[in-house]
Amino acid sequence: MHGLQPAARRTRVLIADDSDGIRTLFSKLLLADGHEVIVATDGIAALESVARHHPDVILLDVTMPGASGLEVCRRLKQDPTTHLVPIVLVTGQTDIADRIKGLEAGADEFLSKPVHPLELRARVRSLARVKHLIDELDSAEAAFVTLALTIEARDPLTRGHCERLARAAVRLGRALGLGDDDLFALHRGGYLHDVGKVGVPDAILLKPGPLTPKEFEQMKQHPEIGDALCAPLQSLRRVRPIVLLHHERLDGSGYPFGLRGDEVPLLAQIVGIVDVYDALTSGRPYRGALPPDRATQYLVAEAAAGRFAQQHVEAFLDTLAVAAPALVH
Ligand SMILES: [Fe+2]
Repeated sequence: MHGLQPAARRTRVLIADDSDGIRTLFSKLLLADGHEVIVATDGIAALESVARHHPDVILLDVTMPGASGLEVCRRLKQDPTTHLVPIVLVTGQTDIADRIKGLEAGADEFLSKPVHPLELRARVRSLARVKHLIDELDSAEAAFVTLALTIEARDPLTRGHCERLARAAVRLGRALGLGDDDLFALHRGGYLHDVGKVGVPDAILLKPGPLTPKEFEQMKQHPEIGDALCAPLQSLRRVRPIVLLHHERLDGSGYPFGLRGDEVPLLAQIVGIVDVYDALTSGRPYRGALPPDRATQYLVAEAAAGRFAQQHVEAFLDTLAVAAPALVH
């Protein structure tokens, strides 16, 4: 493998500041350190530049025309495509209030004006290292999503299942008032929940009929296989409970552990509900697709039997009612 590794990528730094002097000074220092530099003169231009150039580190002046550095920071940290990019807020020396607001907006680091050149270079260097590590993790995660979609592609009848599940799980999570971290985990979980099916033979996965008890035992191993696959990836730690526990049911009738009630994490309960609905309304090798009203009846009966939380099923059915008109357009 020697000689095949890609050359270390240069770090791309965005400097967003309305002062010509600061932009010129920072640019000079960072270019001397071997970084690639892009500049923006106000908040809106900074957001456009992030979307176009995908910087590795972002330096934001707090007071800028257009959108303030705090506003830009908040927006970037709320966007799943940019929330892992390190942001340094450049504030006035004594402005504690700005720092507190900056922390709330999700800033990773602060620099006080006047900025010491050595401090600027050290901060950018250490954040660049963090970003390159995150990029490696991200590509491992991207490989996982590809694997999940490959598994889905083995079975033509489940095509689109992962993406539908991801969207429906996020919709239900939002309806239940969950925060961004949970919604992000639900989105990933929608794609990855069945990644462990990579360990289930085609003869079982694609069998055109009900499974024998022995085959079902093998099928039931997919959550634990999936969890073991996800375990080395720190970035998937919030997704693992979904992968491992999406077939648990509140009355203890699920697998792999037969957990009960609150023992089943909320995110796994959510994916459990949307997974069952999607499985029923799309065909399987041994049966056709059920019409939505029959699938709804089934979910309501499952909730009445204590397998799903009644209020979650009701919230899910409400999201369907809201989502349905969109399908018509
Ligand atoms: Fe599953």
